[in-house]
Amino acid sequence: MSGIGVVEACEQAARRRTFAVISHPDAGKSTLTEALALHARVISEAGAVHGKAGRRGVTSDWMAMERERGISVTSAVLQFAYRDTVLNLLDTPGHADFSEDTYRVLSAVDCAVMLLDAAKGLEPQTLKLFDVCRHRRLPVITFINKWDRPGREALELLDEIEQRLGIHPAPVTWPVGNAGELQGLIDRRRPAHLIHFTRTPGGATAAAEHHLPINDIAVDEVPGLGAAVEELALLEGTGANYDQTRFLAGTSTPVFFGAAVSNIGVSLLLNAVVDLAPAPAPRLTRDGGVRKVEASFSGLVFKVQANMDPAHRDRIAFVRVCSGVFERGMILKHAATGRPFATKYAHSIFGQDRATVDRAYPGDIIGLVNAGALRPGDTLYQDEPVVFPPMPTFAPEHFAVIRSKDPSRSKQFRRGIEQLEAEGVVQVLVSNRRGRQAPVLAAVGPMQFDVVLYRLEYELGAPATLEPLPYRLARRTDDAGRELLERVRGVEVLTRNSDGELLAVFPDQWRFNVVRRDLPGLTLESLIAATG
Ligand code: G4P
Repeated sequence: MSGIGVVEACEQAARRRTFAVISHPDAGKSTLTEALALHARVISEAGAVHGKAGRRGVTSDWMAMERERGISVTSAVLQFAYRDTVLNLLDTPGHADFSEDTYRVLSAVDCAVMLLDAAKGLEPQTLKLFDVCRHRRLPVITFINKWDRPGREALELLDEIEQRLGIHPAPVTWPVGNAGELQGLIDRRRPAHLIHFTRTPGGATAAAEHHLPINDIAVDEVPGLGAAVEELALLEGTGANYDQTRFLAGTSTPVFFGAAVSNIGVSLLLNAVVDLAPAPAPRLTRDGGVRKVEASFSGLVFKVQANMDPAHRDRIAFVRVCSGVFERGMILKHAATGRPFATKYAHSIFGQDRATVDRAYPGDIIGLVNAGALRPGDTLYQDEPVVFPPMPTFAPEHFAVIRSKDPSRSKQFRRGIEQLEAEGVVQVLVSNRRGRQAPVLAAVGPMQFDVVLYRLEYELGAPATLEPLPYRLARRTDDAGRELLERVRGVEVLTRNSDGELLAVFPDQWRFNVVRRDLPGLTLESLIAATG
């Protein structure tokens, strides 16, 4: 890359913060996203921000099924300008059934915001998502939300984080008043002031902040102030202070309190993302080296998705820029095939809308259209070759035979299955016993099957039926294993289409234990658990 290009890539990378919010459904992820959008300037507004209950809303829902169920299956990206930085916020699907997808999204960010409900603390999906962050060694910022209504005690929540996640919580702000009686926040970096917020009706505008010197406040004037000051002294004594090295190593999490719905504590969080979260850094490559941000362009495909908008029936690949400067029109190289990839149609992705993107920098997400050949985990580059490590596939726990309902549409059916497999929607396995006409789908969560059936019928014109199989456990085996296992009742050996791996599937742990005991020496390796 030219000298100017190197400087541009470095400068722009240093301005980027690319992050995701992880939370259990209902903790307030959409509300927080809206509140962040309110405090920052959404770069591509493009009509995708639309009202939810009378408030501005950001939505990534795109399928009728998602809307019906109120879940977000797919991911979108928001880009904000704030202070002199550009923030890329990637949406993660909240439901556990899509944890593979979440893993892929989290492979494209540099930091995560873990959002907790003050009344509930850590919930099952928070734990699972946190595990993915730990696996990726992602720095995590914690935001304890809904402090405007009754909940648990702040110290108790910190204790839960420490005990259950094994990560050291370092509160940066501290609430004055118990949950439900919030009087304001104290920023531990400026402990002499109480930050008092004036709420606006419905949280439609940013809450006004007033900084009141604590020494000027009579102790009984602000309920909870005395207790908060004592707790702060206690925290000082226990060493619960923020430490950048530990945060970046993923062993400590800075903690913020607030109420997204009233915009309380949101600007402190936003500033923390800018000030604490890391900018894009050199990225590890498959051969154990690193790709520096100022190297020539490289990008990681972390998600492939079709039909985000029924008006554009094509396939779009979400690419995280890892190094260099992306310019629309560049001819890239697809590392997996060695083929050129034209980028005439590059977009920024914002909810359902797309805007053409002409230039993008490390940390940014671009959407490449007509991406039929691209798979999640693929690398694209220009000039200096590079390959990023592949995305892991997770241990499936649900299996079903899929068949076309209409024999005259078997071609569409076959193509549809191939496409959904390529997008990473589901794993496709073939069994000697059943043949290629009746492939076996394997998923981490059963909702993935619903997506397959829905998309086959409404998008790909190939209605299908599923026959669930009674397996819940998969282990990797080899040819010798297959020979032996094919004679065992209740066990089946399937070949994964994408990589030819042989998977032995069992109805439960008990059956698996029996087989292992009766056939010692058989290759039966664990696959990566989706999460937790
Ligand atoms: P999610 O995306 O994580 O699933 O959560 P979402 O933002 O949809 O929020 C879930 C519910 O929690 C919503 O209430 C929302 O208003 C509420 N909420 C979010 N942040 C706060 C907060 O800081 N304080 C309080 N008290 N509530 C909060 P809902 O009744 O389900 O929907 P709505 O009618 O309010 O939109």
